Amino acid sequence: MSKLLRRMVGEAQYSKWKPLGHRFDYLWWVVRGKPVRSPHLLKQMSVAEYGRRYGLRTLVETGTYYGEMVAPMRKHFDRIYSIELDPRLAEISRQRFAGDPSITVLEGDSQVLVPQVVAELKAPAVFWLDAGYYGVHPAKGDLSRLLAELRAILSSPIAGHVVLMDDARCFVGAENKFTAAQLVAWIEKEFPGRKAEIVRDIFRVTRRETSPGA
Ligand SMILES: C[S@@+](CC[C@H](N)C(=O)[O-])C[C@H]1O[C@@H](n2cnc3c(N)ncnc32)[C@H](O)[C@@H]1O
Repeated sequence: MSKLLRRMVGEAQYSKWKPLGHRFDYLWWVVRGKPVRSPHLLKQMSVAEYGRRYGLRTLVETGTYYGEMVAPMRKHFDRIYSIELDPRLAEISRQRFAGDPSITVLEGDSQVLVPQVVAELKAPAVFWLDAGYYGVHPAKGDLSRLLAELRAILSSPIAGHVVLMDDARCFVGAENKFTAAQLVAWIEKEFPGRKAEIVRDIFRVTRRETSPGA
């Protein structure tokens, strides 16, 4: 269905029309009893919610795809960076958002570009890591890219970055990769000031709150 629509209207138009299905997807997900794989609207709500909850005004996304997260997040963030490996997809989004100076679409490998963006940031940000780290769009077959990005973000001198990452259900431990629980444990061991958890298929890494007097 979506392939047919893409062929009929062309990719640039498709990127604008595709979100029309998000509300239907959300309702269909509710009707089916909220299965593990969550609809895009829920992901949008989570990204916006974490920005609001932690007072963060910058969003950094890996995996722009058709700009479906960038577009709705414009009203929730003052500054958005989105990183896309595929030159064709990067160009579609660059053209789509060309008139908006608050949005930068960067073309390249997230493992290279995330540390560069982290180094430029002056304030904590929400990171939406969604560049196919496990199996949805298999990248290189290991988790080294993801772990390098997490290290760059979580060891930054800016301590308040929040990381959200999609597709926790895909972390099943195949081919010597981490399971979802092992990734949570790895994050909390490597970065003791951080709390990691999975809610509705999304990894969520935030600062560990210390109770007064602790
Ligand atoms: C699941 S889609 C992203 C969806 C989008 N974030 C959203 O919320 O609508 C994954 C995207 O990651 C891109 N990607 C894969 N490997 C990448 C890499 N190493 N660096 C940057 N982007 C990558 C793919 O080309 C694809 O467009």
